[in-house]
Amino acid sequence: MQRRNFLKLAGASAFTPLFSQFASAAESATSSVPDSWARQFAQAEETSPWARAYHSASKDLAGTAEVTGRFPAAVHGALYRNGPAVHELGGQRYHHWFDGDGMIQRFAIGGSEVGHIGKIVRTDKYQAESAAGKRLFAAFGTSFPDALAPNSPDSLNVANTSVMALNGELLALWEGGSAYRMDPLTLQTRGTKVWRDDLAAVPFSAHPRTDPDGTLWNFGISMADDTMVLYQIGKTGNLLKADAIRIPQISMVHDFAVTDRHLVFLLPPLVFDLDKFRQGSSYLDSHVWRPELGMRVLVIDKNDWNKRQWTALPAGFLFHVGNAWEDAQGVIRIDYIRTEGPEILFQETRDIMRGRFMRSALHHIAQVRIDTASGKASQQLLAIDSEFPRIDPRLTGYRHQYLYHASDSQAGRPGFGAVARTNMESGKTDKFSYGAECIVEEHLFVPEPGSAAGAAGWLLGTSLDLKKGVTRLSCFASDRLADGPVAQATLPYALPLGLHGNFVKG
Ligand SMILES: [Fe+2]
Repeated sequence: MQRRNFLKLAGASAFTPLFSQFASAAESATSSVPDSWARQFAQAEETSPWARAYHSASKDLAGTAEVTGRFPAAVHGALYRNGPAVHELGGQRYHHWFDGDGMIQRFAIGGSEVGHIGKIVRTDKYQAESAAGKRLFAAFGTSFPDALAPNSPDSLNVANTSVMALNGELLALWEGGSAYRMDPLTLQTRGTKVWRDDLAAVPFSAHPRTDPDGTLWNFGISMADDTMVLYQIGKTGNLLKADAIRIPQISMVHDFAVTDRHLVFLLPPLVFDLDKFRQGSSYLDSHVWRPELGMRVLVIDKNDWNKRQWTALPAGFLFHVGNAWEDAQGVIRIDYIRTEGPEILFQETRDIMRGRFMRSALHHIAQVRIDTASGKASQQLLAIDSEFPRIDPRLTGYRHQYLYHASDSQAGRPGFGAVARTNMESGKTDKFSYGAECIVEEHLFVPEPGSAAGAAGWLLGTSLDLKKGVTRLSCFASDRLADGPVAQATLPYALPLGLHGNFVKG
């Protein structure tokens, strides 16, 4: 990939003509009078306890949790989480959960003490809009007539999807632009991460994968010119390689997987339509569901990105992949969380922003088999309600027995009610139910130091207690979920419902 092409990906010449087309019938925020979405949501907060999860944050937070039980030494350190938090500004409420400016949470975990700080990421966009007192730019699922044309993808960067530590630095991750650098202790925003000069503002997705040797892999999608950028980063945070490949009719891709030899992408048939975008649809609404394409499967050789193999699965939608691994015969297995269609993205995660909820999408765990010799792929579905899949991180790219995930969608409100461990060989699930009054967020696996990869460890995650209006951090023995948490830390306030995070040992 030539330098000028990276510049084209990142620069104004590529994006201004595209993004300046934003226009819709959405209301313009020119005063602090609540718009119709803000009013509808405020009404819902009066009657629907779940709406608390999507209340807009307005300031940074700091507090001390009340702890019951004792957190094991293995989880002493910091749990970082990220999620959309600032949903309203100047009376304008965003129309999609994924639009909100990101807020990083830091739980400092000791044995019987847990402190918390939460800070809004001071992206360029957040700072410009805060100073103006109103939204200036369109977002993923919200457009409005007087939105400014962005200079680059980072003009729209809300840094709201995940957060990870890399070589002493904390990175707030989004998928449409740069990672944002944060101070790991204070959460002060330090600016965008530039991996190489010609990669400034090039998309860097929110689900990087780390090999057991510390090598980090990631990708970024540029819908503007059907391009996927691949990144290989050393364990000290140094960029080893980056290049771009062209993918005709490129899809919205949120996550991927690695094996010891390959990068594996599942492309749902949700394809960007430039004409719709030019006619004024939001970025989200410029995507078209094209099931005739199937779920395309792309396998790329880690050592030679020109060696690529394509196959397909039945059409379906996904956000998240659990893990992938391959055997000596070159058969790749990959687990992902599947819904039949993209309604969760177009309806559920949009309606909740105005206080409406119909029903949750039906999720399955899909187990895929890709035979690289024959070029064929097949899958079987486990009828287990699931999202936010995690594994023992030491097994990334290698055979895993257990998938840890949220489970049990609740009737009458969004979100999950249980945390679960599913044995991917037997299909058996163990779980702990937080109950109908709690929304379960991502729980991640923390190994017991010195234990073998795959051995039992700890599960660490948060939940939002809708009745008490507080966020709670829980720790479980990973092989005894049904016994309930060994320790819990309850904050004196509720956090905006978040997406993903990572743990850093203290
Ligand atoms: Fe995600």
